[in-house]
Amino acid sequence: MNEHPIRSDHDYLAEAATLLAHDEPFPGGAVVPPIYQTSLFTFDSYAEMADTFAGRRKQPIYSRGDNPTVMEFEARIAALEGAEAARGFSSGMAAISATVLAFVGAGERIVAVRNCYGDAYRLFERLLPHLGIKIDYVDGSDPDAVAAALPGAKLLYLESPTSMVFDLQDIGLYARMARQHGAITTIDNSWATPLFQKPIAHGIDLVLHSASKYLGGHSDTVAGVVAGSADLIKQINERTYSYLGAKLSPFEAWLLLRGLRTLPLRLPHHMRSALTIAERLKDHVSVERVIHPAWSNHPGKATLAGYSGLFSFEVSEEIDIPALVDELKLFRIGVSWGGHESLVVPALASLQQTPDANSIGRFGVSPRLVRLHVGLEHVEDLWTDLQQALERARK
Ligand SMILES: Cc1ncc(COP(=O)(O)O)c(C=O)c1O
Repeated sequence: MNEHPIRSDHDYLAEAATLLAHDEPFPGGAVVPPIYQTSLFTFDSYAEMADTFAGRRKQPIYSRGDNPTVMEFEARIAALEGAEAARGFSSGMAAISATVLAFVGAGERIVAVRNCYGDAYRLFERLLPHLGIKIDYVDGSDPDAVAAALPGAKLLYLESPTSMVFDLQDIGLYARMARQHGAITTIDNSWATPLFQKPIAHGIDLVLHSASKYLGGHSDTVAGVVAGSADLIKQINERTYSYLGAKLSPFEAWLLLRGLRTLPLRLPHHMRSALTIAERLKDHVSVERVIHPAWSNHPGKATLAGYSGLFSFEVSEEIDIPALVDELKLFRIGVSWGGHESLVVPALASLQQTPDANSIGRFGVSPRLVRLHVGLEHVEDLWTDLQQALERARK
């Protein structure tokens, strides 16, 4: 893997290892935080309650707002992203919708990269027009297209790389451009995680995650988080977070904290195995093209300090795609990614589910595309599985 080193000037992995493994002791000297499974927090006196409501005193009031286990997770994500604050949500989509709706209203416009995550696209297409919000999609790999769309926009929605076709964006450049136009920048950083990309250091305002992916890492939790300046997170709190009500549960926050501790160990493993398989697929007779950011020449690659385990490839006409998927034994057929297990999603099947999805058809994604999530199984077992399935699926 010498061709794709993690650059030493971006050694986020090393920084994160201690940050995530070391905790100040919790009550009673516990090394693991308690799960505060409580809906409300009481006060000892009228004065305490009144001071807390007035903001003169800090104490959680009600778990739809603040909960100590959730706050522990939020503090950890803020530290990882180099942000002042973070807010946890019940899903990545809850984080995305509460963030966008906090800053954009009737008569305003957002600019989003085409090929962004399918349900983000559907949120933009199905809800925002009803609220009088306009949306323009751009080819995020093209700075001229972004420059042309930005004037008058309220928010720029990025996802670099995107999670089906892995389009990259020059996020530092776009942060500067958006600032000139007074637009807030958001990025879905689920693919890279804060260990491999730190958007705030490049001027991005708000970083979004589906914590259901690598942050949790065990496919047992659906959760989301947004990180940014204290001021922007406060605005999200005051406008949408508490009132849309999509809070993160204390137990799921605890699972996420548990998952995070091994992120610096898991991510390089996903990266190495995915690169090994991607490299071998490039030379496979039945594979037309491998789509992995490692081989991109786009300047957007410069902010990536490493790669995760999700990439796509396109098979030749001689491969029967349903047979390929069915013949796989270790790659299970399923959406999502970022967990311990390897997964496969053929674009052909996604098309059945959502003919209007932006990632399929509309922006020219090939129906011959197959997406893999390379999990923590042994890479040689995964490669053997792929080889036999490609062989059997040949028409
Ligand atoms: C890139 C990306 N962003 C956001 C989401 C949404 O996250 P969640 O499923 O946690 O709501 C997903 C889910 O698959 C995703 O793949």
